[in-house]
Amino acid sequence: MVYDRRPDDMVRITTPELANAFIDEQVQAVKEQVGDKKVLLALSGGVDSSVVAALLIKAIGDQLTCVHVNHGLLRKGEPEQVIEVFQNQMNANLVYVDATDRFLDKLAGVDDPETKRMIIGNEFIEVFAEEARKLEGVEFLAQGTIWPDILESEDGIKAHHNAGGLPEDLNFELVEPVKILFKDEVRMVGDALGLPENMVYRQPFPGPGLGVRCPGAITRDRLEAVRESDAILREEFEKAGLAGKVWQYFTVVPDFRSTGVKDGKRAFEWMCIIRAVNTKDAMTAEIEHVPFDLMQKLVDRITHEVPGINRVLYDMTPKPTGTIEYE
Ligand code: XMP
Repeated sequence: MVYDRRPDDMVRITTPELANAFIDEQVQAVKEQVGDKKVLLALSGGVDSSVVAALLIKAIGDQLTCVHVNHGLLRKGEPEQVIEVFQNQMNANLVYVDATDRFLDKLAGVDDPETKRMIIGNEFIEVFAEEARKLEGVEFLAQGTIWPDILESEDGIKAHHNAGGLPEDLNFELVEPVKILFKDEVRMVGDALGLPENMVYRQPFPGPGLGVRCPGAITRDRLEAVRESDAILREEFEKAGLAGKVWQYFTVVPDFRSTGVKDGKRAFEWMCIIRAVNTKDAMTAEIEHVPFDLMQKLVDRITHEVPGINRVLYDMTPKPTGTIEYE
């Protein structure tokens, strides 16, 4: 059955048995919805779209084409990893599109958070539409929308990053098999589908990617500072054994400079904010108590290795009042 909303009496998926029952139900629902038609999936490589990919491969096999769009806002090494896992290991029909310039040109000078999200979302749809037009007979667009996305867009906290905005000439019907699930349930389902652990438990990453971690108008140099500092943070958390334990951690580089000193000279540069949070369902979150010596190491590496950064701050704010992401 294809649900519009999470049923009020739905039991939280906390066991493999409940996950398997959900999978059987959704495999059936997808088969009924799609028939022998082709489906295009926006495969970001995150948990949600990876689980959708695995579910759809189970349900409809090679009627599925996965499209991985590099919008230039991905983490260091990410496009390479998506190609390795899905194309080489899972034998998925994967189309890789490098649309970096296209996205960054459209975003140039745009500093309003919701406008940035809209541009990224709309451009995504456009790129998919172009790919769909190259393929014969695609009628469906699959998406890794989850329940908190729907709730928060209804509450007006954020514009919904997935739904809507399809070009009028393409009447894609949406396939959203995990849209009534909370994040922890998506992971249970991913486990039950046999996805590799490092994929199922990898930290979430928003659709607009590093774009929402580069508050203000995105520039290539500041975006690079976000990407490099994020890579250092991930490396150090991994070394410290925190990688599988902390739910989500990343860096943010706002469009704001402060005075500092580097090599005996005045350095008027950006600050890098570290965010590390724990949560069950992303509706609320607590900050991670990062060990002080690890903090010092991070400050040292980021200020010395990342061009343009002269300060590092730690965000102590739980959700509420701060959302996990900055935009
Ligand atoms: P917030 O910032 O609302 O984030 O506290 C809650 C969780 O959702 C992720 N997030 C997104 N995921 N597309 C996504 O796929 C998005 O646009 C998006 N915005 C936020 C965020 O990283 C956190 O895990």
